[in-house]
Amino acid sequence: MKYISDIITLEDYLTEIGCETSLGDLILLLSEQAEPIRDAFPENQDYAGTENASGEDQMALDVLADKLLTDTLEESGLVGAIGSEEKDTILYLNNPYDGFGVNMDPLDGSSLIDVNLAVGTIIGIQDKGNILNKGEDMLAAMYMIYGPMTTLVMTTGKGKGVHEFVLNNDGEFALLRENLRIPEDGKIYAPGALKQDYTDKHLEFIDNLEGDGYKLRYSGAFVADVHQILHKGGIFTYPATEKNENGKLRLLFEANPMGFMVTEAGGKISDGYRNILEIEPEAVHQRVPIYVGSKGPVNKIEQIMNR
Ligand code: F6P
Ligand code: MN
Repeated sequence: MKYISDIITLEDYLTEIGCETSLGDLILLLSEQAEPIRDAFPENQDYAGTENASGEDQMALDVLADKLLTDTLEESGLVGAIGSEEKDTILYLNNPYDGFGVNMDPLDGSSLIDVNLAVGTIIGIQDKGNILNKGEDMLAAMYMIYGPMTTLVMTTGKGKGVHEFVLNNDGEFALLRENLRIPEDGKIYAPGALKQDYTDKHLEFIDNLEGDGYKLRYSGAFVADVHQILHKGGIFTYPATEKNENGKLRLLFEANPMGFMVTEAGGKISDGYRNILEIEPEAVHQRVPIYVGSKGPVNKIEQIMNR
């Protein structure tokens, strides 16, 4: 494992691992939005007064982060289409036919902005302007977390590993840890949704985890909760409930990019029955029940559900 004392920038690292130039350029351009997004927190603490396509109240920062990222993608000339949690429909750009397709949750966990807990940006990158492709087809995925440190975790595809960078005092992302592997023996669980709405099988699963000594750690920001589990091992769940059979979180903007990275780090993502990355998306804002983390507990819920 490498630490910050060896200063290897994100740009150097992308070159070192042989990342294709335009994909590397796209990742770098997106990474450059971390600072402007972060700088906007003090003056954007309020609701925007609008709702997104999923019926959630937008915060001013949701709208701003969406705009900063969209402007960057439009100006890059590298992108053919953008899907965003904050946009009603896919935005097609007049760029090269084979530009990338970018799916993003510009600011995940925005209900935590006013209490200054960690939130982040989630991004999945597809080939050829594709938006509604399976998660397993992604070329790359990344997230940035605005916490005590600003960090960036990314993979440039299957077999390329998952690597973590930290924004240093020179304003550059420097390699913090390379080749993250999710521990199989970690015992943290982050359970979304109201317990009174759990299905019997989900309740049984959660009871099992508690019986097995899993410790509850749930912040309310998917990206930060999954990041913790990626480091410490365990499982994040936002299940199907009696009221919402598809749960709450979105397939394209939340489940797929995070699931792709956790899978690349040796973990797994499931809707309780099957690998989420194999789901053929039908709609931009489609929701999906999520179980993501170490293989052991994700296999366990599949056993319970398929019984
Ligand atoms: O983007 C949706 C989100 O904010 C996730 O980051 C988080 O995991 C979830 O909603 C929290 O939902 P709840 O308030 O139901 O726990
Ligand atoms: Mn979100």
